[in-house]
Amino acid sequence: MLELVGTDRELQRILQQLEESECTARKLEMPPGERAKVLEAVTHYASEFIGAMPDRKAFEASGYERTPADRGFELEETPGDIAGMLTFIRERVDTTGLNPASGGHLGYIPGGGIPEAALGDYLAGITNRYAGTFYASPGAVRMENAMVQWSGQLVGYGKGFGGVMASGGSLANLIAIATARAAKGIKGRDLERTVVYLSDQAHHSLGKGLRITGLGECIVRKVPVDARFRMDPEALQAQVEADKAAGLHPFLLIANAGSTDVGAVDPLNTLADLAAQHKLWMHVDAAYGGYFLLTEHGMHMMAGIHRADSVVMDPHKGLFLPYGTGIVLVKDVRHLLQAHSYEANYMQDAQEQTLEHSPAELSPELSKHFRGMRMWLPLKLHGITPFRAALEEKLWLTRYFHHRIAQLGFETTPAPDLSVMAYRYVPASGDADAFNKAMAHAVQQEGRVFISTTLLHGQFWLRLAVLSFRTHKREVDILLEQLERYVKEHGR
Ligand SMILES: Cc1ncc(COP(=O)(O)O)c(C=O)c1O
Repeated sequence: MLELVGTDRELQRILQQLEESECTARKLEMPPGERAKVLEAVTHYASEFIGAMPDRKAFEASGYERTPADRGFELEETPGDIAGMLTFIRERVDTTGLNPASGGHLGYIPGGGIPEAALGDYLAGITNRYAGTFYASPGAVRMENAMVQWSGQLVGYGKGFGGVMASGGSLANLIAIATARAAKGIKGRDLERTVVYLSDQAHHSLGKGLRITGLGECIVRKVPVDARFRMDPEALQAQVEADKAAGLHPFLLIANAGSTDVGAVDPLNTLADLAAQHKLWMHVDAAYGGYFLLTEHGMHMMAGIHRADSVVMDPHKGLFLPYGTGIVLVKDVRHLLQAHSYEANYMQDAQEQTLEHSPAELSPELSKHFRGMRMWLPLKLHGITPFRAALEEKLWLTRYFHHRIAQLGFETTPAPDLSVMAYRYVPASGDADAFNKAMAHAVQQEGRVFISTTLLHGQFWLRLAVLSFRTHKREVDILLEQLERYVKEHGR
């Protein structure tokens, strides 16, 4: 009896605590009117941001120093006010450093960030569909897989391929490398005899991927490139033969379909012949170049890409999505499964539905953002045609710049394969590297457009990368005018 009274008291205490915590916890579900106000404020901010884009700087050389206002980054127990928070975001986040949403972003690899993708993210976040397994959300997984299938069909893959949406090109490359290792059965004891082939144009995420997957201890051969920065197949052939003769094990060939530095596309068909001859896993990094397959020129440049064992292409580059979406494609999906599928007791229900592959069995991720929606929504809403036209426009803009900059007396890399190229001005006297460095800095400080730089054969070059859906002739002309002015003022 006594014991029962004690239990009653305990229960009462629990109920009282529950009531108190529920009362506060329920504040996480805003009343509809309050949520509408927050949404309206955010939508207003977004519209203003987009509306003012033509006048916004592509780069603001500010925000690096800490200020007292940075206390706004800290979290508090009490609720914030959305108007004040948006002012803080405007001042301390959105007007500092690079503005990747600007059409004036002509550096690194831009994309723009098409706003309708954010609406997809909004819906994905609100509904919080779990896109990890087909069992949990057949519709979400089917949508993601449809995006992967569409991309694979662009590559020209036939039946039996598969892929997954990752957070970007680096993770997609990592997944491809892990898959190549599993498919070729590379064991720890094999590493020091195993050879990877790439050129100095390979993106550094591939080196990272090799290291993370334990392949950093392999022999990595930098295959020479030709005058157009494309991998030289004869040099590759000679190297592979020499390695075989030395008792080594040629394993992985990494080719570029649009290198980051200069946009070079390797001779994929010839490389595929060599990969087949020497039983190499051929991976093509088309993170930047891949979606140019929507254009005739891109299809021509990347002929043979369908022969690769794996391909990476980034919708947050060539389809102009906001950061956070890369796709890895594997010609034989069984290899992707072999490298990534895993079973857990508590996931046994998920194994009942096998009509579609689940992203969780094709990548390192389990709980993941429902990325399919941010890609599907804008493509479905606009239709594919304007995306293709925008890519064509980028190709023409780059050719236009290539012509014009040469007319201004600049050195350039050869006619661009896609929409990235490099250029430099060699003054009559003085240090050319220092001149170009100062010129890049001047353009960046002015901020109307943003350019980045690179080193080619040890020399300092400026890069043009045209890929934002907001970049049109106006932005390229602004850059040309700035460069011409700089050379006039400082060039002798
Ligand atoms: C050719 C290439 N591969 C891979 C990457 C890495 O992609 P992400 O930045 O999405 O991780 C990039 C990024 O610019 C790239 O240009």
